[in-house]
Amino acid sequence: MMHLILADSELELMPEEIKKGRILLDSSLHHSLMKGLKDWKRRGRPDIVHIFLLIAQESILNKEGLLRTYVHTRNNEIIYVNPEMRIIKNYNRFKGLMQQLLIHGKVPLKGGSLMKMKKERLDELLNKIKAKKIVFSRKGKRKALQDVFEENVACIIGGFPSGNFISSVEKYADEIIRLHEEMLPAWIVAMEAIVAYENFMKLHL
Ligand SMILES: C[S@@+](CC[C@H](N)C(=O)[O-])C[C@H]1O[C@@H](n2cnc3c(N)ncnc32)[C@H](O)[C@@H]1O
Repeated sequence: MMHLILADSELELMPEEIKKGRILLDSSLHHSLMKGLKDWKRRGRPDIVHIFLLIAQESILNKEGLLRTYVHTRNNEIIYVNPEMRIIKNYNRFKGLMQQLLIHGKVPLKGGSLMKMKKERLDELLNKIKAKKIVFSRKGKRKALQDVFEENVACIIGGFPSGNFISSVEKYADEIIRLHEEMLPAWIVAMEAIVAYENFMKLHL
């Protein structure tokens, strides 16, 4: 099983210090309001979560039942994504869903949940997952994923556009891996990890 974790994601409701109201923060819309916020240049990026989830949930690995996807946020919430969840393609509707999730803790509100959110730190999640922990970072070692993977792996990718992890991910890493000399978007790192693991598990034969 691969556990895929988008860590320190910039997904949050608009902080009360800039505006009262429970709207999802989106830097492309709220840029001017955000300037007083700490770390404002990296915050409000639901688009990263959207593309990451589209790639993960539609992957062959997920269809084969070998993927568990989680989104950890800067406010130490963990979103548990049901493998059955198909991600809405329309970005505005996706944002509406994530807003509902952050407010109510689950979606849909009635019946079984496709996504649920818990107040939980990244280290608490990682302690529960029995797997080799691989952090993806440009500061890591360049190694072939085939040589690093085991049957049970947890891959940790930063869900932010710039800067470093806020959580102390290095403490929990069994390996820190660099995929390329250049910075890659989180969803490309996720795609590379998923396909490498599909090959490792010989799903394409
Ligand atoms: C847009 S980057 C975050 C910015 C960060 N300053 C950086 O250079 O990685 C998003 C995430 O993708 C992963 N990542 C980006 N480029 C990578 C690379 N070349 N090798 C391994 N992981 C990478 C890391 O987990 C990173 O936190």
